[in-house]
Amino acid sequence: MLAALAVFGVMQTMRGQTTTTQTAEAPQQPINFSHKIHAGGQQMGCDSCHTPTRSGENYTIPQAGFCMQCHAAIATDKPEIKKLAEYASTSDTIPWVRVYELPSFVNFSHRTHAAGNVACVECHGAVAEREHIYRETEMTMARCVSCHQAKKAAVGCDTCHTLQK
Ligand code: HEC
Ligand code: HEC
Ligand code: HEC
Ligand code: HEC
Ligand code: HEC
Repeated sequence: MLAALAVFGVMQTMRGQTTTTQTAEAPQQPINFSHKIHAGGQQMGCDSCHTPTRSGENYTIPQAGFCMQCHAAIATDKPEIKKLAEYASTSDTIPWVRVYELPSFVNFSHRTHAAGNVACVECHGAVAEREHIYRETEMTMARCVSCHQAKKAAVGCDTCHTLQK
């Protein structure tokens, strides 16, 4: 399937490189969570909340029980924290709206990039300074490939796609 679409894929790349950076709006999240307060002011490390999944390929997004380690005592009178406590007491999953998401036909691993010393900020921007997370860098094929070229990482189609035999 991908082989048949190869020419199209290359066209995509060229088109991607000529467009200017797109900035999407921050989605409305179920709780008005701020990275600026937590990762900035409180200087919490990214990995204290975003622990790697078992395979290490991805990071998790924290749930209410985790947040309540602090918020059982901090800012308990605030409406957003009351909402948080409500999620925790009903053990509901907080329906965080995803900001970055790749189509399923792309192979991506955070572990590989962490091992290659690619910093979070290179792909997600200055998160610790952001009140709300929006897609400040477009995770397009053109962008993946241009960084791979710059850092001398692999650029063959099968680096990021599983080719059909
Ligand atoms: C290590 C402790 C800690 C953890 C863990 C933590 N927070 Fe906080 N949070 C704070 C502190 C400190 C403040 C600032 C409180 C203040 O200014 O009164 C804060 C502020 C907030 C506020 C703003 C409250 C307001 O209206 O003033 C929200 C909302 C919030 N946190 C949500 C969360 C969520 C959601 C999580 C889990 C993803 C979380 N916090 C995890 C310490 C923590
Ligand atoms: C106190 C916990 C906490 C800390 C510390 C924290 N985050 Fe987050 N992060 C969250 C929560 C909760 C969300 C989901 C809500 C949102 O998007 O704002 C999130 C969302 C994100 C997303 C969007 C994920 C997606 O695709 O939907 C990225 C990227 C991210 N964080 C990166 C970082 C980086 C980089 C750092 C360190 C500079 C960091 N975070 C520190 C709790 C945290
Ligand atoms: C090379 C670029 C790159 C780097 C470096 C990077 N990310 Fe990501 N991140 C992505 C992409 C692309 C996605 C979407 C992945 C997907 O949908 O499979 C993502 C998704 C996420 C998510 C959402 C995960 C989920 O499935 O819910 C979080 C949280 C996150 N990144 C945090 C971080 C943190 C923290 C760091 C630094 C330790 C980091 N990222 C470094 C590109 C990157
Ligand atoms: C800011 C630079 C940067 C961006 C953006 C980036 N990468 Fe990478 N990527 C690297 C580096 C550097 C390596 C090599 C890491 C190592 O092996 O040490 C790498 C390695 C990889 C590998 C493993 C290659 C191998 O030889 O096994 C895959 C797969 C990959 N990246 C996919 C992606 C995808 C998909 C995207 C876009 C969503 C992306 N990358 C965006 C820098 C980047
Ligand atoms: C470094 C990672 C990377 C490499 C190398 C790569 N791709 Fe992609 N490719 C992506 C990502 C990420 C997407 C999804 C985002 C997008 O459409 O820009 C994608 C999307 C595609 C699509 C779908 C386009 C669409 O609009 O739906 C095709 C077809 C494709 N790639 C073909 C190829 C071919 C052919 C090659 C080799 C010449 C290649 N890719 C190399 C990361 C990569």
